[in-house]
Amino acid sequence: MMAERERGFRKMLEKSIVENIKIEHKVVLKGQYQKAYDLLHDSLDTGITPCLVGPPGVGKSLIARKVAEDTERSFHEVFFDENVTPSRLIGSFDPALVVRNGRNISSFEPGPLIRSMVEGGLFVAQELNRATEFCQNSLISPLEERHYHLFPLGMVKAHDNFAFVATQNPIETAGTYRLSKVLVDRMGCWIRLDYPTRETEIEIIVENTPAFSLPTSALEKIYDIVDETRHTSSLEVPASPRSGIFLTRLVNRYLSRFDDEDAAIRFFAPAVLSKEMRVRDEDKTVSMVIEELIERRLA
Ligand SMILES: Nc1ncnc2c1ncn2[C@@H]1O[C@H](COP(=O)(O)OP(=O)(O)O)[C@@H](O)[C@H]1O
Ligand SMILES: [Mg+2]
Repeated sequence: MMAERERGFRKMLEKSIVENIKIEHKVVLKGQYQKAYDLLHDSLDTGITPCLVGPPGVGKSLIARKVAEDTERSFHEVFFDENVTPSRLIGSFDPALVVRNGRNISSFEPGPLIRSMVEGGLFVAQELNRATEFCQNSLISPLEERHYHLFPLGMVKAHDNFAFVATQNPIETAGTYRLSKVLVDRMGCWIRLDYPTRETEIEIIVENTPAFSLPTSALEKIYDIVDETRHTSSLEVPASPRSGIFLTRLVNRYLSRFDDEDAAIRFFAPAVLSKEMRVRDEDKTVSMVIEELIERRLA
């Protein structure tokens, strides 16, 4: 019985393996996004290493993915934290294969950085400011000299199309390292993304909501509530465009269950928005602040 199920799983796994994940919705390239896209595209074209800087959910990853797709580069990424080691980026020798074949190409299991250097892909170093200094140092020669000394195989020279992009959240949270000076000096283009304008964010929400069918009034209320979190000083972390997308998807799908759109928004908004928000105001809970804010906007 188990063996049957296991074989079934393996068949499904095989069918699930794809070459590259494609963007499945329209990318809104207006205002800051067109500018970021152009800057990213042009700096990669001239071999300058860019860094996308902005709070979570503003579209840093999407813009990087879009440029990779449009320039026909494969896409590789690593999310950094203190546990990511250089060998996670570079790759390592498989001990079992080393015993059989020795340390050569056939026993080497490449990591995403070496893979993108060899294929001429785009490597995205997500939240590079969280990488340890050890990891940051291992990136210097791939960036500066476009090669990596892979002992004992030799020098790996990057393909001409190899490109490297870093992303970073503006330093606010404790426990994040900063980028080392040597690495900062090798990055030549700082591309800042912030919360988009009202019009653009509303368009982003619609593009990311399958079968969107809400009246404009509901969409505007959702945006207003999300935007209000960014102007409520007792909330430490405001809602990202991602939260607006989640809230819209729920309200869009289940509106008919409720008496009206306000009731649907009142039901879903606290659950979506109180995700990781901390409050500065000591005698209020996150839920209290969120509910007050929703009432302010729906009144
Ligand atoms: N310009 C845009 N056009 C369409 N969707 C966008 C745009 N910017 C952000 N999004 C959507 O918002 C969400 C968060 O974007 P993401 O790139 O993951 O943000 P970040 O990497 O900055 O955290 C994703 O679902 C993404 O598709
Ligand atoms: Mg991202």
